Amino acid sequence: MAVRDILRMGDARLLRVAQPVPESMFDSDEMHELIADLLDTMKAASGAGIAAPQIDVDLRIVIFGGTGKNPRYPDAPDIPFTVLCNPVLEPLDDERSAGWEGCLSVPGLRGEVSRFEHLRYSGCDAAGVAFVRTVDGFHARVVQHEVDHLDGVLYPRRVEDMTKFGFTDVLFPALVA
Ligand code: NI
Repeated sequence: MAVRDILRMGDARLLRVAQPVPESMFDSDEMHELIADLLDTMKAASGAGIAAPQIDVDLRIVIFGGTGKNPRYPDAPDIPFTVLCNPVLEPLDDERSAGWEGCLSVPGLRGEVSRFEHLRYSGCDAAGVAFVRTVDGFHARVVQHEVDHLDGVLYPRRVEDMTKFGFTDVLFPALVA
């Protein structure tokens, strides 16, 4: 259990397409230690979610939610704590919405990003048990942001209007960067 260093934008390791989690890793000590480290690291940085590649683990694993009221996203609804391995995303329609995002690998900045509003996602938990969820709004946004990390995409690449990209403390003086 440890707070790990978070790779920051500019590091080529954040641009990799991460590897699928092999069957042998589910429910292993290695998996449980990795999830504990991801959770410790996410909580220490007040993140809404974190992806394994952000701590230099080249696997298709993300975690998110479970943090209750988050000082970085005080108006966000609660999302249940989720471990999502080998995710598959399926937008349910064409509706998209614009919303502000930040990223632990892009500290101090926020940008407005368009995401699918209604989403079905599936994958496995840390034990390898498959599950599927249908979500919308902020929950859908967080999943799309985190899963982008598994494909080497950081949110600034998705900011369409660069006038909606800037420093958190300038854009939102009341918020924590
Ligand atoms: Ni991120």
